[in-house]
Amino acid sequence: MAQDNVFKIGLILPMTGQQATTGRQIEAAARLYMAQNGDTVAGKKVQLIIKDDTSLPDVTRRLAQELVVNDKVNVLAGMGITPSAMATAPLATQSKTPLVVMAAATSSITEASPYVVRTSFTLPQVSVALADWAPKNGIKKVVTLVSDYGPGIDAEKFFNQRLAFNGGQVTEALRVPLRNPDFAPFLQKVRDAKPDALFVFVPSGAGAAVMKQFLERGMDKAGIKLIATGDVTDDDQLNDMGDGALGVVTSHHYSAAHPSPLNKKFVEAFEKANKGLRPNFMAVGGYDGMRVIYEALKTTKGAGGGDALLAAMKGQVFESPRGPVFVDAQTRDIVQNVYLRKVERVNGQLYNVEFDVIKDVKDPGKAR
Ligand code: DHB
Repeated sequence: MAQDNVFKIGLILPMTGQQATTGRQIEAAARLYMAQNGDTVAGKKVQLIIKDDTSLPDVTRRLAQELVVNDKVNVLAGMGITPSAMATAPLATQSKTPLVVMAAATSSITEASPYVVRTSFTLPQVSVALADWAPKNGIKKVVTLVSDYGPGIDAEKFFNQRLAFNGGQVTEALRVPLRNPDFAPFLQKVRDAKPDALFVFVPSGAGAAVMKQFLERGMDKAGIKLIATGDVTDDDQLNDMGDGALGVVTSHHYSAAHPSPLNKKFVEAFEKANKGLRPNFMAVGGYDGMRVIYEALKTTKGAGGGDALLAAMKGQVFESPRGPVFVDAQTRDIVQNVYLRKVERVNGQLYNVEFDVIKDVKDPGKAR
């Protein structure tokens, strides 16, 4: 097939290393989307080129450069962690290539390039809901524990501000390194401080280690509640966390237990195609990212280059497995429902069961 009849998506993901579950989930979701929707769109053959950046930002940038210059991709996508997205954003701008961020979730990423469109979420977006819920449920004094980089600092800041606004207080703000974190010394400090709750953000893949060490130290028995963004009770790992995870309250934009007909179909198809692997929030970011790309290609009929594609990505409104979503044309960030959830056993498996919803939440990080 002639090159100009091919539409290339350069999907850069961490397929190995600490963030490998993110790559595995997003690749599976992108392949599912293509299997369900075909690989010919507006007369073009869609080609997915997947590259492993091992979540090292210098590697992400080099791969993005090669994809743009050598492969002449029409769209860049993926971006497992914030530093990868930040390293790639200038290249998107220079080459006028839309960069669909499917995972990374620091608020400022969409401001790093006018070519960034995000289908994941932001940490401010999901953190404030928990800071509204906590004081109404007997939690006034909180210690925060976050990974020490963009999304963690966003989560810490927005949780803290909102909790203070609601009459609560963050008594201590602890930060753990992103690479090879050891939570033990931090958890010991929290145990000694005896807050009503510990609020945690760690990236996808690190939640199980936090949960294990929290329980091993008997923090729950000492009367300290664990509250977190849904990154901690990650659907990729949750079912193996054990009964100690029961009752943990989190806020997030996606649960595999979201009770919509569309989500039930999505989860079933994903599990079927992936030997029973349960989709997590990363998978949904990837699935919806493919939708945004496919629809932009349909609208532009495959003509017009990066600027036309970008314009056709802005303002898309659709139903996602997570619920209704909207790509805000001004910010290029996703507007979506945020759910409060509690870990429960359903049909023998652990799930994040939604019990409240805040509708159509914009990223509060952009409101300044
Ligand atoms: C980021 C990565 C994650 O795995 C996550 O759950 C949230 C944010 C990030 O690097 O932006």
